[in-house]
Order: sequence, then C-alpha cells, then structure tokens
Amino acid sequence: MNPTETSSRLRILLIEDDEHDSLAFHRAFEKGSVAYEITDCILAEDALLQVLADASLFDVVVIDHQLPGMSGLDLCKEFLRKKTPLPLVLLTGRGSQELAIEALKAGVDDYIVKEHGQGYLELLPVVLPEIVRKHGDRVARERAERALRKAYDELEQRVQERTAEVARTTEQLKRELTERKRAQEALRESEEKYSTVAESSLTGIYIDQNGKIVFANKTFAEIYGYSRPELVGMESWKLVHPDDRAWIDEMRTKRLKGEEAASEYQARGLTKDGKTIWIVRRNTRIDYGGKPAILGNIVDITESRAKEAQLIQASKMSTLGEMATGVAHELNQPLSSIQIGADFFRNMAKQGRQIPHEELAYVSEQMTQQVARAVKIINHMREFGRKAEIQPEKVDINQPLRAVFALLGEQLRVRGIKVKLNLEDDLPPVLADSNRLEQVFIDLVVNARDAMGDERARLDGETTENTLTVTTFQEHGKVAVTIADTGPGVSDGLKEKIFEPFFTTKEVGKGTGLGLSISYGIINDYGGTIEVASEVEKGASFKITFPACDKG
Ligand SMILES: Nc1ncnc2c1ncn2[C@@H]1O[C@H](COP(=O)(O)OP(=O)(O)O)[C@@H](O)[C@H]1O
Ligand SMILES: [Mg+2]
Repeated sequence: MNPTETSSRLRILLIEDDEHDSLAFHRAFEKGSVAYEITDCILAEDALLQVLADASLFDVVVIDHQLPGMSGLDLCKEFLRKKTPLPLVLLTGRGSQELAIEALKAGVDDYIVKEHGQGYLELLPVVLPEIVRKHGDRVARERAERALRKAYDELEQRVQERTAEVARTTEQLKRELTERKRAQEALRESEEKYSTVAESSLTGIYIDQNGKIVFANKTFAEIYGYSRPELVGMESWKLVHPDDRAWIDEMRTKRLKGEEAASEYQARGLTKDGKTIWIVRRNTRIDYGGKPAILGNIVDITESRAKEAQLIQASKMSTLGEMATGVAHELNQPLSSIQIGADFFRNMAKQGRQIPHEELAYVSEQMTQQVARAVKIINHMREFGRKAEIQPEKVDINQPLRAVFALLGEQLRVRGIKVKLNLEDDLPPVLADSNRLEQVFIDLVVNARDAMGDERARLDGETTENTLTVTTFQEHGKVAVTIADTGPGVSDGLKEKIFEPFFTTKEVGKGTGLGLSISYGIINDYGGTIEVASEVEKGASFKITFPACDKG
C-alpha cells in the first residue's frame, strides 16, 4: 500500500448489492472534497477475485453486510483468512451492535452504521481516509514491531549464544582451576613426601650447585659433623679428602658437561673435626631452580670398609697359601742354578784349580742374576701381602695377569693344564689397585684349576687336554678379561649362588667360599662387573669388565 497514492486519490472497492445505497455512496463522495475512485462490486466472489488478483489497485474495501449468497461479515473473514493487506470496513444496519463487535473481534478495521438521514454518508469521505491512514499506520507499526521483534529475537539469540559461551568458558575455567589446584596440591604433597623422605633417610642427601652445597639433609650433616646452616653455602670440596679432590673434581666437571662419568664411587671425606671418613656416593645430574646441579646420595662406609679390609686381608692369606706352592716351584729354578754355580766353585777349589778370569766373571754373573730373580719373587710375595693402596691408580690389566701366571704357571703345567694367554697390547688403563686385581685373578685361576682337576671332568674318559684361556680386549669403552676353563662348568641354578659368601662345593678345608664374593666386591669397588657364562660340561667362562680410563 502506498500512502502517497492514498493521499492523492482514495481508491475504494465497494461491495454493495443495493443499488440505492450504492448510489448514495457515490454521491456522498461527489459532494466531498476527497479525490477518489470507486470500483463497484455486487457479488462477494467477484470482490474476492479482484482483490486476490491485485490488491494494490485499492486502498480500502467497503463491504455491505447484506449481500446475496454470503454475509458481509463472512466475506470480511474470508479476506482476513486470505491475509488481504487492505483495510476492511463493514457497513451494518442499525441496531446490530453485536455484529459490529464480532466484526471488530474478527479483525475488521472499522464498521459504519447505515442510518439514513443521520448523516453517515456525509461522514464517509472524512472517515474512510482516516481508516486508511490508521490501517497504514497499524501495518507500518506492525512491520516495525516485527522488525523490532526480529532484531530483538536475533539479539536475544546472540545474547543466549554469548551467555552459553560465557557459561562454557566459565565451566572450563572452573575445571582448569580445580585441575591446577589439584596439581598444586599434588605437588605440595609430593614435595612434602620428598622432604619427609629426605629428612628421614638414612642416606646423606645433598645438592651441589656451582661447587656449593645448596641443600643437605639431617643424615648428611651428621656424617660430616656440621650443622646444616654451616653446610648450606659451603664449598663442597671442603668435605673431600685433599688426596681425592683432583679426580672428584674432574668427574664433576665431566658429569656437568653431560659426559660419561662414574655415577657411583667411593672416596674419602673430611669431617668438621678433620677426621677421614670413607663414603660411597651416588650422583645424578639434576635441574635445580632451572640450573644444572648434582644430587648426591652418600653412605658412611668407614666401618664396613674396615671390616671388609680385614676380610680381604684374611682371604688374601689363604690366597697366599695357594701361592706358596707356586712360589716354591718358581724359587726352585734360580736356587738350582745358584747351586750349580756354587758346586762348580767348590769342585774347582777342591781340585786346587784356578778358575779362568772370564769364567769366574760369567758364573758369578749368572748366580747374581738368579739371586735377583729369586729376590723378585720374594718381593712380589711381600708386596702382595701388604694392604692394598687406598687410592686406585691407573693399571694396565695385563700386568697383574702376567704376574699371576709367573707365580702359578709352573703349578698349572705340572697338573697338565695348558695356559693360553691372549693379551691385547695397547689396552687403555683401568682405575684400580694392581694388588687387588692380582688377588681376583689368582682366585679365578685357582678356581679354574680346581674345577679342571676335579674328577668329574675326567669321568667321560676323554683325553682332551685341559686348557685355561685368558683373553683381554676392549669393548664399548670398557676393558674386559675372560678367564675360560674346560672344567665341568657352572649349572644355571648356581650361577648366582657361587658369588655368595661362604658358598663352596669344595670339601671342608679345601674351599672357604669367599673367593668369588670378595672378588665381586673388589671389582665392584672399581666400577667393574663380573659375570659367569657357562654351559655344563663345556667349561666355565668368567668375564670381568672395568671402565677404561684415559692414558697418561
Ligand atoms: N671355574 C669354575 N668352574 C666350576 N665351578 C666353579 C668355578 N669357579 C667357582 N666355581 C664354584 O663356585 C664356588 C665358589 O667359589 P669361591 O667363591 O671361589 O669359593 P671356593 O673356591 O672357596 O669354593 C666353588 O666352590 C665352585 O663350586
Ligand atoms: Mg675359590
């Protein structure tokens, strides 16, 4: 509907079957001052068709109530049902108030009571434009309202969406918060747990950062005899025995650089009152406050070490007993040479003969050499008997092996055991004590000797020669030794047991069962490993490895 058109010319569709009334309608507009155009229609159906075909041809529909075939009110309802966008005005007869009310209720825009002689006709040109205007206003208002509602609905929807989003975010935040709280709680708990663990630990625990103690537990403080406030901030080298400072420092530097360094080792410590203590220490590189640090665990082994030293010393004595026979064989040789020399001198003297000068020089030189050899053997025995060096040194592992076979070689030969030494030259040294290594090798060789001397080994009557094969080589940065025999071997069930102290299968008086357990301890002290590979009836093979260290 176009309001400008409405104002220029009022286009009326009049549905009126009464000729007289229709004429009066026309006349009323002719007299009025409104520009107009009236389309007459007698039948309700015609009117419906016209409006449905093109509603924009009219500004208002005026319907008489009394129509043939259909009442004006029903026609109005029909228009309304078809959503006709035009204002509808019902012409009713006098005294039909209820009809008028029903019409308004149904949605008709207005009604006009036909009261002849009452001047309703004169009112028509004034009232109708007013109705059209009001209708237009209403339509516009409704449209605005609709638009407003739509906008409102959209807004509402957006608000709802945003609210939902906010709710979701809040929910998520809440969840994250609870989670964080839980994590903090867990962290606090675990920190508490750790500090309780650290506090109640029997091991000394400390953290060293940049060479200074930044944390120490109670046990650590007790071991060194300091109070904890005294320890925190102290330079950690003060706790190390002066003789061990250099190599421990070297190791620390390596570890902090991420290079391979022994993570467990024994060293001497220095207490507050200057006492030397022995500690075993396990170190790990950690992050402390975002910076690299060393977390260390220490145990005071001063006492157990003293006991162990006693035990080792005791077992060494039994090893020495084993060696005595070998030494006797070894000493026999130089002694008989010296005897030959002495006999020669005595015979010459008896016969009153002069010994030529060169001969005298030669024989006495030979005798001196043999004495030197005997002295060497005796010195070696004496050397072996002394307590082991506390501080490990760089040892070429072939050297104690050769010493062992110098002592025991003869004994083995006598028993028909062939010795094969495959010693690789140019091995890197290992950090150990040569004497102790010798003790380990003697025990292993004696074990092999005993195993091959065992009657069991010869039960099958085979004549194959018994052989002891000793091999040294380098493997994955380690120095390795294997000592393999052709004895009866070690059964699977005993492979762990044989390293236990006092485990022996030998007769009372022959074995102590300490050899392997002490060897195990010694090898462990130097960061090495020992294991046995064996198949029953194929002999036993003991493999020992030590970390290789730099030459020089
Ligand atoms: N080379 C070997 N072949 C077979 N059995 C072995 C060998 N070495 C050790 N054993 C077994 O391990 C046991 C423990 O050895 P060890 O600790 O040296 O004590 P002991 O020699 O005093 O018996 C031996 O009694 C023996 O049964
Ligand atoms: Mg033994």
